[in-house]
Amino acid sequence: MAKRKSVLDFYKMKESGEKVSWITAYDAPTASLAEQAGIEMLLVGDSVGMCVYGNGGTNEMTMPTMLGHTSAVRRAAMNTFVIGDMPFLSYQISCEEAVANAGAFIRVGADAIKLEGGRRVAPQIRAISDAGIVVFGHIGLTPQSSGQLGGFKAQGLTAESAADMIADAEAVQEAGARFLLVEAVAPEVTAIIREKLTIPVYGIGAGPHTDGELLIVADLLGIFEAFKPKFVKRYANLAVEMKKAFEAYRADVKNLAFPGPEHVYNMLPGELEKLRAAEGKAKGKGKRG
Ligand code: KIV
Repeated sequence: MAKRKSVLDFYKMKESGEKVSWITAYDAPTASLAEQAGIEMLLVGDSVGMCVYGNGGTNEMTMPTMLGHTSAVRRAAMNTFVIGDMPFLSYQISCEEAVANAGAFIRVGADAIKLEGGRRVAPQIRAISDAGIVVFGHIGLTPQSSGQLGGFKAQGLTAESAADMIADAEAVQEAGARFLLVEAVAPEVTAIIREKLTIPVYGIGAGPHTDGELLIVADLLGIFEAFKPKFVKRYANLAVEMKKAFEAYRADVKNLAFPGPEHVYNMLPGELEKLRAAEGKAKGKGKRG
C-alpha cells in the first residue's frame, strides 16, 4: 500500500505532469475501497447532504455532521490525503470562527480543508493558512452560494464572468491557498487560470487543462439518480445492481428461500436433547398428584 502523499508530493506531480485522481467519500467502506484502488485524495464533501441525506442542496450540513463523516473516512483510509469540506456558515461569519472550525477538521484527521469562494473569502483563507492549515480554494459553481449564481449553473461562459473567475483564482492563491478546485467552468477559462497560477489547479467539470480531476462518488458509481450533470462520467451503474439485489432478497424472503441451512447457527451436538429433557422435567414438576 502506497503511503499517504504530502502537499509536496502533489506539487511534484504537478511538475511532472502526472494528474491527481480524487473523489468524494463520506463513509468508511467507500474510503477503504478508494484507497485500495490507489485514489490519491478523498474529499469529504458537503455534497453528502445531497448524496446521502437526500437534501436538494448542501447548505443543511453542519460542523458535527461533517466531522463525523471526516473521521469515518480518515479511520478507513489512513494512507490517503483527506480534505474536509467546510459547511455553510462555518467560515463566512468571521475569520476567528473559520480558523476554529478548520482546526476541528484537522483534529479529526483531515490533512486539509476546502472552502468555497474567491475574493470575498480571501481574509478567511489567509487566517486559516496563517494557522498552519492547508487550504483548498473552490471557485466557479460554488453550491453553497448557488442561490446567488441562479442555480447549479456553469460559470465563466462570458468574458465578464471569465474575468471574475480569473480574479477569484488569483485572490485565492494570493491569500495562501495551496490548491485550487475549479467547478463547472469553461475549459478555456480553466486553462488561463492554470497558466496564471503556480499552485495545482484541479477540476470538476472544468475540462482537461487541470492538474487533477475530482468526481462525486455517487455520480461515478451511478447511485445518484436525481440528476446527472453534463460533466459526469459514470463508471458503473450501481443503482441497477442495488435494485436487482434488493428485489432478489425480497423474493427469497417471500419464497422461503432465505435463510437456508447454511445461514444459521445450530446448537452444539446433544444440547437440544438436554434442553428438551430439562423442559420435560420442569413440566412434570408442575403437575399435581
Ligand atoms: O461537496 C462536494 O462534493 C464539493 C464538490 C462538488 C466540489 O464541494
